[in-house]
Amino acid sequence: MLYSSIIAMVASAAALGLAVSNRRRSKRLKTQLAEHQASAEQQIINLRSELDRSIAQLSGRSASASNLELHRKKIDSIEERQAHCQKEVDHLRGESQNLAMLPTWHPTRVALAEELRPRLVPITDKLGPVLFPNQLAFDELDWMYKLPDRKFPYSLTFEEGMMMHYLVAANELKSGYEIATAFGFSSFFLATAFEKTGGHLISADAYIEEEMEDFIYDHASAQAHVEKLRQLQRDEQYDQLPRGLQFAMEGAAALKIESVVDYEIACSPEGVPDLLNDRQLDFAFIDGGHFGEQPVLDVQSVLPFLHPERFVMMFHDTQCEAVAKAVHFAAQATGTQPFSIHTRNRIVAVTKGIDPNILHTCREMTVRQAV
Ligand SMILES: C[S@@+](CC[C@H](N)C(=O)[O-])C[C@H]1O[C@@H](n2cnc3c(N)ncnc32)[C@H](O)[C@@H]1O
Repeated sequence: MLYSSIIAMVASAAALGLAVSNRRRSKRLKTQLAEHQASAEQQIINLRSELDRSIAQLSGRSASASNLELHRKKIDSIEERQAHCQKEVDHLRGESQNLAMLPTWHPTRVALAEELRPRLVPITDKLGPVLFPNQLAFDELDWMYKLPDRKFPYSLTFEEGMMMHYLVAANELKSGYEIATAFGFSSFFLATAFEKTGGHLISADAYIEEEMEDFIYDHASAQAHVEKLRQLQRDEQYDQLPRGLQFAMEGAAALKIESVVDYEIACSPEGVPDLLNDRQLDFAFIDGGHFGEQPVLDVQSVLPFLHPERFVMMFHDTQCEAVAKAVHFAAQATGTQPFSIHTRNRIVAVTKGIDPNILHTCREMTVRQAV
């Protein structure tokens, strides 16, 4: 009996001990489980944000891939358009060259070129052929010229010079004035024509473009430059005079037309009355300042000296707004109609009492036919 009680007591003590140890173990296991859970959740959070980052990178890459595709398509379409434009340019060039064939072989043009080209070789050999940016020459007569060591001024083209020569010679004109000389290129065509008619040319310039190496300047600078040049002339310091004036005089001597042309240093319009004095002009070439009111003032200065019944007034660069305005001013003032000739620099004639066939011949022989 005692034994069985002792055994029962020992058994219940052992059971109690086991129970306590089990509870402790379960508590420890629960803590461990909670820790594992927390770490697992943290790992899930980390993995998610990593996944998000990777997805963002991937979509970034696919965005740049589609951008790349877009650029490639744009390049393809530009290349296609470029090829198309080139075809159009080639086509237009072909068309214009075809149009140029008939005037190229116009007998008057051929005769003028055969006469004047060899005569002017000593001049053109010393000049530089020039065009404005993005221009192409139709042929060798379609170039302007400049002094090799100066940026400006530019001359008319050889074709335009031939037309000026033809207009003077064919109309038997006798008394001419040109504003402006630059380095004499236009004066050579005119004076060789006046040589044929027994006429005379006055060519004037302020030499301001050569001085500034630009075609924009203010009038006060031109006036001051003329005063300075006149003083040099009075002091006989000829080697200090503008290169353009020296070239013009040397050229006139080489062409043996010194007696046909007078080169004057003057500022238009205020210097013109003294230059023209009691002359009556049947030819005037307006090719001085090309901006503001200057071309209109140049015309105004010449009008009192024009023959009332018979004259040719030529304009150069009528693509310039200020020159175009002067053309209409001259036509209105003289009760005439302007006659445009489609040369490189769009020359225009305002004429009275002269043979219209001569003007039409000029239009027919320009290589750049108006279509
Ligand atoms: C286009 S260039 C003349 C080119 C010349 N006729 C030729 O074809 O060989 C223009 C000239 O006008 C001159 N000029 C500009 N304004 C002037 C003015 N108010 N008086 C005199 N000459 C002027 C410039 O000095 C320049 O030499």
